[in-house]
Amino acid sequence: MPHELDAVAAAILRKNDRDGFTIPAARHYPFQWNWDSAFTALGWATLDAERAWRELESLADGQADDGMLPHIIFRHDDADYFPGPRVWRAQAGGHPVSGISQPPVLASVVRALAEAQGAPGLARAAELFPKILDWHRWWRRARMVDGCPVVCTVHPWETGRDNSPDWHPGLAAMTVDPQLQPYRRKDTEHSAPAERPSGAEYDKYLSIVKFGREHGWRQEVLARDGPFLMADPGVFFILLRAERDLLWLARRLGRGGPAAEIETRITAAERGADYLWNADARAYCARDVRSGRFAPGFSSASALCFYAGVGGAQQRRATLQHLRRIAQKVRFGQPSWDPDAAHFDRRRYWCGPVWCQMNYLIAAGLRERGEQGDAGATAMAEKLRGDLRRLVERTGFYECFDPLSGDGCLSADFSWTAALWLAWASPSARKTPAAAAA
Ligand code: DGY
Repeated sequence: MPHELDAVAAAILRKNDRDGFTIPAARHYPFQWNWDSAFTALGWATLDAERAWRELESLADGQADDGMLPHIIFRHDDADYFPGPRVWRAQAGGHPVSGISQPPVLASVVRALAEAQGAPGLARAAELFPKILDWHRWWRRARMVDGCPVVCTVHPWETGRDNSPDWHPGLAAMTVDPQLQPYRRKDTEHSAPAERPSGAEYDKYLSIVKFGREHGWRQEVLARDGPFLMADPGVFFILLRAERDLLWLARRLGRGGPAAEIETRITAAERGADYLWNADARAYCARDVRSGRFAPGFSSASALCFYAGVGGAQQRRATLQHLRRIAQKVRFGQPSWDPDAAHFDRRRYWCGPVWCQMNYLIAAGLRERGEQGDAGATAMAEKLRGDLRRLVERTGFYECFDPLSGDGCLSADFSWTAALWLAWASPSARKTPAAAAA
């Protein structure tokens, strides 16, 4: 039986459809964003399998010569967005793009679709496989530096969790470029400034973009000499999970050479994971690579260790304890930042609000952990799904939600919220590829 909101969610995807790719939301996000597009395909798959594959193929169309899949494909300019293509000045696949990447969920989405659709799905996955493999090689080549055993990131925007307090150590260690030109933000015209990153943070985000632009987006220079270099549990765990899903695809597709290569990267990542374990916080935390300093709290990315299949018994137990402690503090879902830590801000973007895609990934990992006999993990996965359902039923398809009141924050009619409703949180979602995974 369809839920009454299923049709509303489907209408949001159709409204945000731009003939082959989906914008995250009108006005604030008028282009194609990388991980938004991948999550949105999970929703499309419940409505129209062909459209879901086109979403993923259009994302892969923006691949750069070096293998990077950029965080934004612009396709056109839009004076209502800042910083647009004229600020980034990067090109890939014949499109203006941004010069950085975004969390690599694509392989996991491709696997979910292929697994659900059998032979026709595997045939479509086979087309995307070499591009995804190139992208994963790119992370290894462009985002690993000597002395750090895990993948790094050169810009908070590359993590998708723009103004998380996770980035405070890296942002504190850099200065604003003294030649940064005055600029006019558009995001704070579309949304309440109190729900967006601060001006001081924007100055630093744009200083990093200026550095990348002035170095022709040479990725090795960004990683070696760029103003910001942190290791992110979000990108690390998502990439490790994506490698496991790419390995699944490689085996199904009979690609023995790539399978061996992917296995080597998985083993190296598993060995490096403890680099992100903060013994004081008893959690996986973001870390500034140059100083070694950890971020000061438990973020929603810390909880992705289950999704990545990483951590010993004590690390898993400690992570679950954090999730339970936080669940006592908020009414809905897993917030993006620890409500007991400094800088928690219930409505400010990644400093507190609940994001449905993070809750979906956390729940997917917990559910798998539960299948290995941990009943507490299963209960927490079910709770997160139920909370997401209650949030949407109560408030609508917002970009994110206040974890205390349940009110919507930032853009309404947001594509990945609608998509993950259809694919996961809706009571009618049990049979979708995404629900099978979570
Ligand atoms: C924005 O414009 O807010 C984006 O998060 C940058 O990717």
